[in-house]
Parts: sequence; structure tokens; C-alpha cells
Amino acid sequence: MHKILIIDDKHAILESLDMFFTEKGYQVFTADSGATGMALLDRHDPDVVILDIRLPDTHGISLLKHIQALEKPCKVIMITAFQDMETTIQAMKLGAYDYIHKPLDVDKIERAVDRALYTLKIDRETPQAAEMTQPPNPEVIIGKSDRMRNIFKTIGLLSQNRAPVLIQGETGTGKELIARVIHRNSLFAMEPFITFDCSAVVETLLESELFGHEKGAFTGATQSKAGKIELAGNGTLFLDEIGELPLIMQRKFLGFLQRNEYDRVGGKHPLTSRCRIIAATNRNLAEMVNNGMFRQDLFFRLKVVMIHVPLLVDRLTDIPDLVGHFLQKINWELGTDIFSLEKGVLDRLTAHTWPGNVRELENVLVEAVVRARGKVILVDEIENILLSNYPITTTRLTTYSLPHMEKEHIRTTLDRLDWNRSETARVLGISQPTLRKKIRKYGIVPSVR
Ligand SMILES: Nc1ncnc2c1ncn2[C@@H]1O[C@H](COP(=O)(O)OP(=O)(O)OP(=O)(O)O)[C@@H](O)[C@H]1O
Ligand SMILES: [Mg+2]
Repeated sequence: MHKILIIDDKHAILESLDMFFTEKGYQVFTADSGATGMALLDRHDPDVVILDIRLPDTHGISLLKHIQALEKPCKVIMITAFQDMETTIQAMKLGAYDYIHKPLDVDKIERAVDRALYTLKIDRETPQAAEMTQPPNPEVIIGKSDRMRNIFKTIGLLSQNRAPVLIQGETGTGKELIARVIHRNSLFAMEPFITFDCSAVVETLLESELFGHEKGAFTGATQSKAGKIELAGNGTLFLDEIGELPLIMQRKFLGFLQRNEYDRVGGKHPLTSRCRIIAATNRNLAEMVNNGMFRQDLFFRLKVVMIHVPLLVDRLTDIPDLVGHFLQKINWELGTDIFSLEKGVLDRLTAHTWPGNVRELENVLVEAVVRARGKVILVDEIENILLSNYPITTTRLTTYSLPHMEKEHIRTTLDRLDWNRSETARVLGISQPTLRKKIRKYGIVPSVR
């Protein structure tokens, strides 16, 4: 039987909560002062304390501090009549599980108590994670799926030369990370890695940002300045969002690629550079070429080596490793130690479609860690975060038959999980024999990429 201790100086509140929770099957203790509360706390070791902020003999916050300092602190739900920002923040900072305002809504309190007990249970079942002594390496690309492995191979091949690389992939798939790792593994890793965001700069400034300018080259050029190409030296120049480069700049940049030579704006002597070019885009450059929005000759120059970064939804098998990696990183950065996942969290994450790809996954985990009020990330919490990120659910009317949709759903899930049948069966919630039967029935085969 779970034990609840209620500390409040209003007898009406003590009585009604006592009645309510006793009826629900809890063992309830009540105290109308801080001192009585402390005594009951020592004697009965409750699971949850419902604690009023204003008490006749002490402040709820000091009691909260006392509880948090215990060897095995219970969960504390604070209640107060005051909408006081400072105290709310302080209470949450000190580790209160929840903070509820009066007038009291018993359902709300019951929900908070339920959740607190649940968290407590999981906390107690979860072993304490080992302390980290150094930050995780920010420049590793996590992934064991075939498509990521192929990218690793390509990076290996690129390490011995300066061939230009074009990285294509949707937002948040890891294009910049891949560019950095290519550089870090090259023979010139000790040289600079310079980023140039083609979409961030005002068009008129693009040229001088990229190529640099001489003093007096244009109004406001009071000083000569090196461009990004010059800064990259013998290292790597990363051109982000290359699809946004205006046509006129495309022509000038192509000139540089063809001759390894360029002029600062207003410069009299051409400069040379041997920097490696890595370009990235989330646009379909081939299509832009067809539409006359991107120069074909530049496209061919850039895509000597092309890397397609898959959507996260096309490498769901990487999610567990990514989650582990991000938890290390996040906990290190936030100074927290939340490493455990409630059973079901990975399934929930694997069921999501991830339009924002790996970056979205990382952001969801940051929020989950920040919101966690135990040592464990709960399925509920993940569910809430995902729901609040996608408030509008669109239902599309389709004219497909049910068997057709079943077939398609099974096929895409198989593809996404690299045809790992046991994983697929688990995600779909069916047995492996059933999955095999359906594969045969519908004649499903791996799709060609
Ligand atoms: N495979 C991976 N392993 C570890 N971290 C990853 C991986 N892929 C992406 N990340 C992390 O996810 C975040 C987003 O990645 P990145 O900035 O490289 O994406 P991007 O493709 O450049 O996105 P955008 O097109 O929006 O600029 C970064 O914090 C990056 O370190
Ligand atoms: Mg990027």
C-alpha cells in the first residue's frame, strides 16, 4: 500500500484529501504544521508528500530541501494559493515533482500522485548510471545501417585526396557533421575547416565574403579583407546550402574551381587556393539544373563524389544507438544523469516519422531530459513532447483497400528496418510467423533503392 503524507495548515484541505486518498486505497497521514510533518516523515517513510508552501511554523521550501537531502527522497508535490513565480521556479529547481495551485482540483492531484508513484517505482528499479568523466566526441557519426556504413566507406576513400564532395540530404540528416568528419579524417585535418553559408549572406556581399576584397574596392571597404576561400587555406571550405548560390556567383565560383585561382574584389593579382570543397544542400540540384536554376557545369564539378544522406525514417535501426549517443552528450552538457528509458520509449521513437530527422530526435531528447523528474525518461513524456510538436493531425482520405494498405505498411517497415524480420514483427506488433505468412501472401520483396 502506498503511503501519502499531507502537510497543510488548513484542516478542511487535510480532511478532504485524507478522505479522497483513503478511499482510493492509500495509507494517508496528515500534519497541520512543519514540525508534525517532519515527525511523520521520519516515522512512516511515505512515498509521496503533498506539501503546502505556507505553514505556520516553517516554509514549505525548507521542508522540501530537507526531504531532498534524504538518502532515498520521496516525491514531493507542492501546493500553494499563491501564483508566485519565484517560489514555483525554486521548488522545481530543488527537485519538487510537481507544483499545483489552489483551489485544489483533486483529479489533478490524483494524476500528479499517480505519476509521481510511477516515476518513483521506475527510479527505484533502475540502477544508477556510471558517472561520465569526459565529454563524448562531438565528431562521430552514429549509425550501423547499411546506408550509413556506405557513407563511412566513402569518407575513408576521401581521406587520401582532395576531391570535391557534394552532400545531399534533407534538413537535420547530418550533412554538416559528415563534412566535418571528412575533414577530420583527411591528410590536412590540421588545416582550417571554414564554413560558408550561401543562404545567410546578402547577395551583394557574397562575392567579397567568399573571395575577399581590397581596401577601397567598394564604398565601405575601408580595409582589405580575406575571403573564406583564403581563410580555408590548405584545409576545407564547406559551402552550406549551395543551392541558394545566385547564378552569377555560380559562374564566378566555377571559374575558381576550374583554375584554382580567384581575385579578391578590387584585387589586381589573382590568388591561388588548394582547399577542398565540400558542398551541401537539401535541394535536388539535378532538378534545379533541369529548371535552369543551377549551372550544369558547376553541378558536375561539385559532384565528383556525391553522398546521399538518408532520412532518419529510412534508418530506424540506428535510433537506439543515436539515443544512447545523444543522452551522453545532453547529460554532459546539462550536468544531469538521466540515462534510462522506460520500456516502450524506443518503440515510440521508432514509430515517429521524423520530418526533422536526426536534429529533431536530438531536440526531443533534450526536452525529455529537461522535463524528466526522475532518473528515467517515460513513454508518456515522449508522447507529450511529440504531440506538442505536432498539434495538427491531418487525416487524409484514401481510396486504397485495407489489404493494399497493409501490404504497403509492411513493405515500408521492412525496408526501413533493413529487412530485419524479428525487429519488423516487433514494431508491427505481430508474430514472426504471421509476418512471414503476410510477406508470402502479398509477395513483398525488398524495394530497390
Ligand atoms: N549520424 C549522426 N550521429 C550523431 N549525431 C548526428 C548524426 N546525424 C546528425 N547528428 C547531429 O544532429 C544535428 C544536426 O545535424 P547537421 O547539422 O549535420 O544536419 P544538416 O543536415 O546540416 O541539417 P540542415 O540541412 O538543417 O543544415 C547535429 O547536432 C549533429 O551533430
Ligand atoms: Mg546544416
